[in-house]
Amino acid sequence: MDGVNFASQDYLSLSGHPEIKAAAREAIEDYGVHSAGSPALVGNTSVSIALERRIADFLDTEFVSLFPTGWAAGFGVIKGLVRPNDHIVIDALAHTCLQEGAQAATRNIHLFGHNDLAAARDKLTTIRAMDAHNGIMVVTEALFSMNSDTPDIAALQELAHEFDATLVVDVAHDLGAMGPGGQGHLGLQAMVGNVDLVMGSFSKTFASNGGFVAAKHRAVTEYLRFYASPNTFSNALSPIQAAIVLKAFDIVESPEGDRLRQTLMENIQLLRGHLHTAGFEIYGAPSPIVCVKMGTESIARLVSRHLYAQELVANLIEYPAVAKGHARFRLQVMANRTDADILTAVRGIATSHRHACIEQSDSAIPPSAPGGVF
Ligand SMILES: Cc1ncc(COP(=O)(O)O)c(C=O)c1O
Repeated sequence: MDGVNFASQDYLSLSGHPEIKAAAREAIEDYGVHSAGSPALVGNTSVSIALERRIADFLDTEFVSLFPTGWAAGFGVIKGLVRPNDHIVIDALAHTCLQEGAQAATRNIHLFGHNDLAAARDKLTTIRAMDAHNGIMVVTEALFSMNSDTPDIAALQELAHEFDATLVVDVAHDLGAMGPGGQGHLGLQAMVGNVDLVMGSFSKTFASNGGFVAAKHRAVTEYLRFYASPNTFSNALSPIQAAIVLKAFDIVESPEGDRLRQTLMENIQLLRGHLHTAGFEIYGAPSPIVCVKMGTESIARLVSRHLYAQELVANLIEYPAVAKGHARFRLQVMANRTDADILTAVRGIATSHRHACIEQSDSAIPPSAPGGVF
């Protein structure tokens, strides 16, 4: 596929960074290419153990378990810790790895309205009125991947503790790419070290497949080592992946990381500004996820057909990833996108949308249709 790429997840553009490539080459020399076992057996290397320590320090937690993918970490933290009689109170828009982990763990799943604290409280009150003993896990994300919005994490953590529940926050999209020192929304909300369980992915910012769960107690990570199947019964991260992520943390925490995050945010603001000027509605708050509202699937698919000719690569998101009638294009911004790339993206969407409107109405473009200025 040719065109400017706003569909890949490499928010700080680290995947081609010379130090990352050098770290991968060095790991091959030092450890070979394969971990050759699950983390519960012989799959760990000194580099993966160093990575666990590094993430624990970064998040001001004590212990970390690595997983072969972010998906496995999300599924595993829930399936590994929740028993059939326990309860899960989960944001209705939480990622599929969290929803499917919940379904695999228990039938007692209570969805609450997206980022709606009052609704989460209602669910917890109802559960505790009938069950004072079993565990409750509350599950949310720090940056929602289709809406670019964020819950009040401190309030949710307080709420969880009020009902003797455990909070899990998925930081896949913001860790490294946003917030002071790359600490994401946990950092922005002064919640680093204050959340029960943090789960994340390396695939958005840390230039590798892989994921992790961070906890305050060794008992939790030890339990995950033996009861979270994707950790116990799946091959560990390769030493190359572990070395890449370790080096990515070096960059994320350095002045270069600060500069990359600043450039990324400037790109995000420029893209959102131009899209807004062109008349489009954008979901949520500024983040590397810029979702452009299309509405019906019919118009969104028509727009999608034109994007290729406009040399723009962007993902069309529709049901079941989002509700019916809420189709959108998800543009994922990277630090190394240029102003020209951003203009191409906005022109691409605007022109495609104008063509789609003509096709759909088989007449002139409605004056209110977005895209006029571009
Ligand atoms: C919020 C969220 N959690 C977890 C994952 C899974 O991460 P990975 O793709 O690294 O397995 C994703 C990826 O799409 C995600 O968006």
